Amino acid sequence: LKNRMNQILDASPLIPVITIEDPAQVVPLGDALVAGGLRVLEITLRTPHGLDAISRLRARHPDVWIGAGTVATLDQYRAVEDAGGQFVITPGLTRELLDYGSRATAPLLPGVATLSELMEGYRLGYRAFKFFPAEVAGGVAALKAFGGPFGDVRFCPTGGIRQATASDYLALANVAAVGGTWLTPESALSNGDWQVVTRVARDSLEAIRS
Ligand code: 3PG
Repeated sequence: LKNRMNQILDASPLIPVITIEDPAQVVPLGDALVAGGLRVLEITLRTPHGLDAISRLRARHPDVWIGAGTVATLDQYRAVEDAGGQFVITPGLTRELLDYGSRATAPLLPGVATLSELMEGYRLGYRAFKFFPAEVAGGVAALKAFGGPFGDVRFCPTGGIRQATASDYLALANVAAVGGTWLTPESALSNGDWQVVTRVARDSLEAIRS
């Protein structure tokens, strides 16, 4: 469980948080993100198109990890697995989701904002967490502090992170990857400007490498 989620986090330092408003955009958007070098795609269940998008992109990009975000209930978790989703990210955590995640086909990245939540997951064997909402929950300074008592835990911070701040997070030893919506700019999506999507992904990857 821990290793499977860590393998996914190791596949890409940047994870786009994707919300599909228009099903016609699934293929061109997915293609544009993959062309930009991204290898892990988080598709949220915030719209009714999320599950179908996961199935379609899995068939189209078998070499990319495709999973779900904004999963809040057990029914949603199971639906993601049925759709072929390869991982599940939750904004927070519940005991029910943690228990299910430890034996699920698709590994769980549970969301935490505090050390008490982290300890709940840690006790059940989790060693990788989403840190959300990263910027308002203390940002880089909080993650640095979490590394004191829990040096063996890795994080994927999300929430308010942009291209300019991604590298500050990734500079921390306990940050495996960062996620965000800046990789799917609204204006590019509404204009169908897929080259912009590819360029933002490429530039963001370039920025964290330099
Ligand atoms: C999430 O669910 O991870 C956040 O909504 C990401 O959105 P943001 O990058 O715009 O903060």
